[in-house]
Amino acid sequence: METVGVVGLGIMGAGIVEVFARAGLRVVGVDVDENAVARGLAHLERSTGRAVERGRLGADERAELLGRITLSADRGSLAEVDLVVEAVPEVMELKRALFADLDRICKPSAVLATNTSSLSVTTIAAMTSRPSRVVGLHFFNPAPVMKLVEVVTTVLTEDGLAGEIAELAGRLGKTPIVVGDRAGFVANRLLLGYLNQACRMLEAGIATRDDIDVAMREGAGLPMGPFQLLDLIGLDTAYEICEVLFYETKNHRHAPAPVLRELVTARRHGRKCGHGFHPRTARPTAPPA
Ligand code: 3HC
Repeated sequence: METVGVVGLGIMGAGIVEVFARAGLRVVGVDVDENAVARGLAHLERSTGRAVERGRLGADERAELLGRITLSADRGSLAEVDLVVEAVPEVMELKRALFADLDRICKPSAVLATNTSSLSVTTIAAMTSRPSRVVGLHFFNPAPVMKLVEVVTTVLTEDGLAGEIAELAGRLGKTPIVVGDRAGFVANRLLLGYLNQACRMLEAGIATRDDIDVAMREGAGLPMGPFQLLDLIGLDTAYEICEVLFYETKNHRHAPAPVLRELVTARRHGRKCGHGFHPRTARPTAPPA
């Protein structure tokens, strides 16, 4: 695979574009309109600019990296790519329509992948005429930093494809695991239960937000406390994952905590909008997920 496409240039999508371009692949990034494309480009310029400032990337390397990326508001530009990774919002109807469209646009040999956090890959695959070449390819936030990639297979996935995609993930410097198509896969299925319980602990008044964060950073050795991490993931995304997990598992542990629902209703979605559990956690100029 030499040329890949990414659909959706929000925080995750732009991060995924950067990961592929860093590994020397050509990338075609697509979003719905010119404004969304401009936000994606701004994110890429900021992220790679920071890497240069920190001495992790030379100025020439940055120029070459950005030169491998083409951004467009036209899905038709994905016609010749070998792999497409979809990173649009977690709305099944949106993904189903998109995959039906990608199936028409992309060459028959192309692999279609979804970066969904919790939705059914099988349902998405069924929207195409090539369900055996549809997989999940789940990156973690921030995509350029986090090593794990979950390669999600379904009962329809053709033999050998998971290995091929895992090999590609290795080329990206990632650590792949192959998982079955179950809500939340491995990492989110464990992680969101923990984050949701932190919300319930806060609601029960057992400790303050900051003390719960401190406990998990200083006592459990995690890089971020649960409320800092919820703000990074996005409260809307966390809420959606909990809902899907609760629907599939019927385990009350996953029923979204009322405080999470309340903040999502109030559109306090975390870092991407500047306010979540923590006020002004923000990078206000960051694109929406
Ligand atoms: N993009 C690119 N690089 C970034 C970045 C970003 N958004 N954020 C941080 N980095 C890089 C920095 O440039 C720095 O690199 P360097 O050391 O080579 O210069 C490195 O990451 C460390 O960054 P900082 O020093 O600024 O900050 P921290 O040391 O506090 O690390 C963190 C930030 C990497 C976000 C760290 O706090 C962390 O690992 N947090 C946990 C993140 C996590 O658990 N993510 C998974 C969430 S679950 C998920 O995504 C699944 C989804 O489906 C919901």
